[in-house]
Amino acid sequence: MNLFRTKPVTAAPRVDAGEPVEGSLEGEATLKRVLTARHLVALGIGAVIGAGIFVLTGHAAATHAGPAVVLSFVIAGFACGLAGLCYAEFASMLPVSGSAYSYAYATLGEFTAWFIGWMLVLEYTFAAATVSVGWSGYFTGLLESIGGGLGVSLTLPATLTSAPLNVVEGRLVPTGALINLPAVAIATAIAALCYRGITQSAFVNSIIVVIKLLVIFLFMGFSLQFIDTSNWTPFIPESQGPGQFGWDGVLRAASIVFFAYIGFDAVSTAAQEAKNPQRDMPIGILGSLAICTLIYIAMSAVMTGIMPYQLLGTPKPVATALETYPSLLWLKTLVEVGAIAGLSSVILVMMVGQPRIFYTMSRDGLIPPMFGRVHPKYRTPHVGTVVVGVSAVILAGLLPIGTLGELVAMGTLLAFATVCIGIPVLRRTRPDLPRAFRVPAAPLVGILGAAGCLYLFWKSFQQNWHWMTGWIVIGMLIYFGYSRRHSKLNT
Ligand code: ALA
Repeated sequence: MNLFRTKPVTAAPRVDAGEPVEGSLEGEATLKRVLTARHLVALGIGAVIGAGIFVLTGHAAATHAGPAVVLSFVIAGFACGLAGLCYAEFASMLPVSGSAYSYAYATLGEFTAWFIGWMLVLEYTFAAATVSVGWSGYFTGLLESIGGGLGVSLTLPATLTSAPLNVVEGRLVPTGALINLPAVAIATAIAALCYRGITQSAFVNSIIVVIKLLVIFLFMGFSLQFIDTSNWTPFIPESQGPGQFGWDGVLRAASIVFFAYIGFDAVSTAAQEAKNPQRDMPIGILGSLAICTLIYIAMSAVMTGIMPYQLLGTPKPVATALETYPSLLWLKTLVEVGAIAGLSSVILVMMVGQPRIFYTMSRDGLIPPMFGRVHPKYRTPHVGTVVVGVSAVILAGLLPIGTLGELVAMGTLLAFATVCIGIPVLRRTRPDLPRAFRVPAAPLVGILGAAGCLYLFWKSFQQNWHWMTGWIVIGMLIYFGYSRRHSKLNT
């Protein structure tokens, strides 16, 4: 059996709302085609704007890039833009819910596809857990401020709001805490919503996206008057060592704020539920990425403009910036609410995406058939949703945000690199396939995109190689123990 056998690609039929592409002949329930271009752009924004801008920007500016964190956002946005173009071509050509996994299966073979599917678990399930932990931090902070305002203590005990395990010098050590309860609660609530239906999930996501955008625009609008341009000079502070300011610092900050862009690709997992995927997938992926890039650049310019960058290195930099101006204090609680909303939608879209990737992998025989079942009433991949929900709850309840976040970024970067390589490969092997969207200068974009992603991956891998290697070994055991024997390509 050939490890690099590819799944034959057929030109996707033109699909319309209400016409499920597969399964209907056997009278089986299928995913529902209900999502419009607007829903898809909202899903992208929902998945993208979250912990990256609300938590990480301050640290990246204060310790690595200074005001030039704006440039770091441009650089990370450029790398994601290259990957985004490749995703747009694939998603409009193969409108299935498997995302990078399906694209790899069509181009680079089954083994690579399995590997990428396994990496996508890091991106989606681990991101849902990572952002649940970030959510817990903002939520406990908001409770404290509300309690302060009411003159009562609403502070939750630290043993119930932090991870019982920490990573010290690569090893897990107990912290004395019991469980991160708010993280468990939000992950459970969102998994329940995802179980209930894609329409409900997309509807809730759209409301949350409006709230978070409103809060961001209020922040920028009211802060403009306080911008002091002297805070932007020097724009790139002088280097103080490797990764600390200077150009090297700007690049290091770019690898940190890369996390802020993760999620635009989640739009592609909804391809099988889009009314008109050929037209709307590129709009959803590239539209959400463009909007978020502009917002990030503007937001980081405002944050570093209203206060000296050295003071932004807190876990809540936006709230910290507001605290400097008494006339803006009223906005602080709103920003906290916006951040909580923002983080919720990231968890939501990640939890929508992962079971849909499992759905496709299961239909290909690489994971057990139960993941391919669709709920007869809610039309969601319900078994996968429960498995993903329970896994995210366990990870969020037990592990610290830093390690989770690093694994998310590494898994995502490998998936992006594969998608970038896949585009020139499929252009050569199947030039005949109709492509509703074509990447301009495909070989150049693909190679540059892959090289950029692999460079950022290598930077993280050096510190986290043991975790990553362990994850890969588990994946190999499952592939050789189960997937290879059950693959539908055997028949
Ligand atoms: N881009 C997402 C965030 O920043 C993962 O939370």
